Amino acid sequence: MQERRGVLDTPDELRALSVTDLPSRRGHTTVAMVDPEFFDLSYSINPHMGGEIDTAQARRQWDQLRAVHERTRADVHVLDPATVWESVGNGADVAPPEAHPDMVFVANHALPTAGGEGVVLARMASAERESEPDYFRAWAREQGYTVEPAPTARFEGAGDAIWHPGRRLLWGGHGIRTERAAYDELADRLDATVVPLELTDERYFHLDLCLLPLSETAALVQPDAFAASALERLDAVFETLVEAPADESLDSFAVNGGVIDDTVITATGAPGATQRLERAGYEVVGVDTGEFRKAGGSVGCLTLWLGTPGGSSPP
Ligand code: ARG
Repeated sequence: MQERRGVLDTPDELRALSVTDLPSRRGHTTVAMVDPEFFDLSYSINPHMGGEIDTAQARRQWDQLRAVHERTRADVHVLDPATVWESVGNGADVAPPEAHPDMVFVANHALPTAGGEGVVLARMASAERESEPDYFRAWAREQGYTVEPAPTARFEGAGDAIWHPGRRLLWGGHGIRTERAAYDELADRLDATVVPLELTDERYFHLDLCLLPLSETAALVQPDAFAASALERLDAVFETLVEAPADESLDSFAVNGGVIDDTVITATGAPGATQRLERAGYEVVGVDTGEFRKAGGSVGCLTLWLGTPGGSSPP
């Protein structure tokens, strides 16, 4: 079968897609996290945002999330905004870290390339978060990643664009934060097949709140978030769609997690999703992310999975 590249959008193109014929891709095992020192609520840009942050409690939850990742075979690297500010702040038109209370949600700053040795920066949809990727650019360069500029269309990084496990296929969430046009650019630049997924519910404003690929053949999903066409696409490609209960998807962000091998890391407070995942053969590790949920984010948004700089193989 002929390899298909570019954005697949028509029913015929999608019917002809065979995931196992796509080039393979090594999994990303470096986890970037942003220190929560400046995390706070000072504006509202999604329907979940509200309440008061207990900063000491947020710090404990973030430390716990970091520790849980460190117990897996992933390598955790932390971006410290205050340190990065010293290098980007000088003379640049970048606001100081205290002006970025959402910077802890690193998944939105960039998307790793298929091999993971580079990143494409985000173009944030809101003015409030606009200069967060400037911090990520400086940090990623320093770590040795190749840093590519943002697309011209709005694009919120790995919050909306999710690599299919093991394949050069990118799931492209759009319609709320990210613009569909970003994927025309990204398909070319990343030399990847992209399947756009239209999001229609503001409560699930990023793809990572409603889709968590578990393996090449299975994914955890929240169907309420998607346009009918998007659900058909997911159904056509994944053999198994594990549905997270709607209340847990909204109140506990059950789908917003991370996967390494057979371990799924997600928020506590999702017994139904946990049971379904366990039945599907996964071990579920729950972390309390209650403080971060007040800003509309959880496990998935607080972590950005990257490859290894320079493309060297992980051990
Ligand atoms: N307050 C942040 C925003 O609205 C939350 C980001 C959540 N990130 C995610 N990947 N879902 O942008």
